Amino acid sequence: MRIYGIVLAAGQGKRMKSKLYKVLHPVCGKPMVGHVVDLLDRLACEKRIVVVGHGAEKVKAYLGDRTDYALQEQQLGTGHAVLQAKDLLASEEGLTFVLYGDTPLIREESLREMIRLVEQESAAGAVLTAEMDVPFGYGRILRDGEGNLAGIVEEKDCTPEQAAIREINTGIYCFDNRKLFAALAQVTNENAQREYYLTDVIAILRGAGEALLAYKTPDWTEAIGVNDRVALSEAEAVMKQRINRMHMLNGVSIQDPASTYIEADVVIGSDTRLLPGTVLRGATVIGEDCVIGPNADITDSRVENGATVKHSVLLEAEVGPEAAVGPFAYLRPGAKLGEKVKVGDFVEIKNATLGAGSKVSHLSYVGDAIVGKNVNMGCGSITVNYDGFNKHKTEIGDDAFVGSNVNLVAPVTIGKGAFVVAGSTITRDVEEDALAVARERQVNKPGYAAKLRSRLKNRKKEEDE
Ligand code: UD1
Ligand code: CA
Repeated sequence: MRIYGIVLAAGQGKRMKSKLYKVLHPVCGKPMVGHVVDLLDRLACEKRIVVVGHGAEKVKAYLGDRTDYALQEQQLGTGHAVLQAKDLLASEEGLTFVLYGDTPLIREESLREMIRLVEQESAAGAVLTAEMDVPFGYGRILRDGEGNLAGIVEEKDCTPEQAAIREINTGIYCFDNRKLFAALAQVTNENAQREYYLTDVIAILRGAGEALLAYKTPDWTEAIGVNDRVALSEAEAVMKQRINRMHMLNGVSIQDPASTYIEADVVIGSDTRLLPGTVLRGATVIGEDCVIGPNADITDSRVENGATVKHSVLLEAEVGPEAAVGPFAYLRPGAKLGEKVKVGDFVEIKNATLGAGSKVSHLSYVGDAIVGKNVNMGCGSITVNYDGFNKHKTEIGDDAFVGSNVNLVAPVTIGKGAFVVAGSTITRDVEEDALAVARERQVNKPGYAAKLRSRLKNRKKEEDE
């Protein structure tokens, strides 16, 4: 059967009280509408149409050419919104899912089960329902004497008896495509909100003698519709748990799931251990056998097998196999650490490549640099890469030794195997295997300290008198 998908995302989301359009609010790092469109991708839909209105340009900019769009200029209700997809879809034959852009927790299994049931029963469609202890704000499911789906009534239109029903409409439906558009033509706005409700399609189709199914999900959390920030935080909590669980089932150890935050698209290899306070964001990829945390904040970065990252912040960085980062390191965009590189405490690396086995163990800044293999950058050594106008490059050859507290004033090149003496300020290139000293020679004056002390003491005495 051909599958189509319509996602409603035209509402403003007034109840969010936000400058950001509702469906663009992220849940586990991904805008809600992104989660919903991902799901349609997994169902291999023939066509996906997102109905946009409020913030149309922003929603389109985010989703790009992943989907087609229909514009709903005035938000006259969910039924009216679906109708905007008519020109793009009405002539197709198949099963059309209608999903709301503010229900990010829908599970693929439920959609597949709906397809299976519709096929098995030759029904005109199905609605995903859920049993909720607090059904507040949702449409209620009406069933007839035989328990069949009879209709959906919006909360604002409920009689007190209907309001007591705890089975709710998740806002996740599939319909025979042609029957859907035929029924939509008959929807009116005679209700409390003067809106054209998609939910009225159920009673209309049933009135025409069509069979419609209500499939009750075993997991009510997937029904959470995010209308305000309270629901947003609930959705975040559910999604976080699902993501953590998925990684644990894939062989990742998470010592304290409560304090571990993994965004939706992060990839983690097996036998990696995540320690408390780990936050993994964006397109981050972590290899196998890594130890991440405690307290690691890693965004859009790649960490290879066997590496460790503790108490550190990484942004658009690459950490090679078995490299060790932290505690208290900051890897900024373009930091690329080779195999077994060590970056220790209070070290910042930006736009710099460090070859295999190199060490920057303490208190350093390495920016705009290419550092070879097995280089030792001593404590406090830094690249002086910025003159207030331009950034300049530092190159350090393999096996070079840069002593403590060395300033490498870029542009500058340190040759392979060179040795830069501690405390030097290097302004000229150092050739291969050379020793560079660039500091004042030391002078010792015997007995001078005692003399100086007594002079200072006498002066103080005179002043005090
Ligand atoms: C809707 C359902 C309700 C269900 C609940 C589940 C209707 C009439 N009601 O109520 O039965 O229990 O979702 O979460 O469908 N939208 C448009 N254009 C419009 C109106 C809405 O695109 O003109 C979009 C919104 O952006 C949103 C979605 O449709 O993503 C749902 O709209 P919303 O106003 O949140 O509906 P609910 O009141 O939550
Ligand atoms: Ca809603």
